[in-house]
Amino acid sequence: MTTPKKLFIKTYGCQMNVYDSERMAEALGGQGYEQTATPDDADMILLNTCHIREKAAEKVYSELGRLKTYKAANPDVKIGVAGCVAQAEGAEIMRRQPAVDLVVGPQSYHRLPEMEALTRTGATALDTDFPEEDKFERLKARPKAARGPTAFLTVQEGCDKFCAFCVVPYTRGAEVSRPAARILDEARDLVERGVREITLLGQNVNAYHGAGPDGSDYTLAKLIWDLDRVDGLERIRFTTSHPNDMTDELIEAHGTCAKLMPYLHLPVQSGSDKILKRMNRSHTAESYLRVIERIRAARPDIVMSGDFIVGFPEETEEDFQATLDLVETVKYGYAYSFKYSTRPGTPAAERAQVDVAQADDRLQRLQTLIVAQQQAIQQGMVGRTVSVLFEKPGRDPGQMVGKSEYLHAVHVTDSRVTAGDIAKVRITGSGRNSLSGELA
Ligand code: 5AD
Ligand code: SF4
Repeated sequence: MTTPKKLFIKTYGCQMNVYDSERMAEALGGQGYEQTATPDDADMILLNTCHIREKAAEKVYSELGRLKTYKAANPDVKIGVAGCVAQAEGAEIMRRQPAVDLVVGPQSYHRLPEMEALTRTGATALDTDFPEEDKFERLKARPKAARGPTAFLTVQEGCDKFCAFCVVPYTRGAEVSRPAARILDEARDLVERGVREITLLGQNVNAYHGAGPDGSDYTLAKLIWDLDRVDGLERIRFTTSHPNDMTDELIEAHGTCAKLMPYLHLPVQSGSDKILKRMNRSHTAESYLRVIERIRAARPDIVMSGDFIVGFPEETEEDFQATLDLVETVKYGYAYSFKYSTRPGTPAAERAQVDVAQADDRLQRLQTLIVAQQQAIQQGMVGRTVSVLFEKPGRDPGQMVGKSEYLHAVHVTDSRVTAGDIAKVRITGSGRNSLSGELA
């Protein structure tokens, strides 16, 4: 028996990258690789990268600078770069960091086995194609290893919306939806392996329009209803959505589908109509608020989450105030805010930039407001009974941690609880980033 080679993958960026890393590990599993938790004993080191903001991309180059020492110590070690930086920078990565053997984009990683074999001959391998074939079809054979209770499942990829700040249409390509039958097969397989909660992923997940099981045009709502009928699957989530694609049937599903969790990530980016227009968002602050009203009418206890960009070109103090006002109105359970980062090749990159100190100041003010809202919503959970899917042991002895239906992390210390259980928990305390409680 040959000893397995070791693969270390470090994942940056979004949840889709987490999913892609799992699939890459599976693909390389066929080449005799086993995953390891550290680069120290790895035969292959793979960075699955993110290009969404400048900092994310720069982190990759500094990490590569550190990793080249592993190769200096052992020339048999291979270093690969996958993901969105690989797509955006291509061969430039190998020029900037000659220790890199392999560069593979998000749409061609089903070719990793051949690419890995090529690097073993001493050559470098580069593939940033948007191939015709469906990578997921090529990656179909999956090992039957047991899984934790939660999983991501990519149903849609890419984006046709072209927000003026965003690299995704260039790194992930045009919108593509997977056929519903493939998704349902994958979901059943995950459930057989122990998964109880699936988060459907897509850069524009609610614009999902794959082929239905009978070949008809399908929607995300229809897919959710099919998943609702999968025995053993208890919870369904989806992310990330665009406000313009929140259809009536999807909103209705939030009110009627018991397995669909009461949490929705719906980025708005800004509260100023002037800025929204310049971002090419094709919605207004008002239309966004109307969508949320409809969602809350269907599911009054839903916890909303969002994304914001401050310091977008030409954002004035008044525009920023409109963002603060919108946040005040919505009351987010979670919100992610970012300082605008110029991305080469995007329309906004050519425009006059906002003063850095001003952007920093706005980011801080927005984050202060968001943290206060998050804390208030978390605090409001104290005394309530929520349903928790337990995932893993917590830091303290005997403690287990899981997620409530609202996606809050919940700690419980009780020997009756094991990973994979779903239990009613009475919330007794609210900490900085999590809740604590006892079995109800
Ligand atoms: N600068 C700052 N933030 C960005 N995002 C996307 N592109 C940029 C950029 N150029 C943010 C948006 C998006 C989230 C994933 O990242 O808020 O919703
Ligand atoms: Fe980053 Fe966007 Fe690529 Fe995800 S899709 S890794 S967020 S650039």
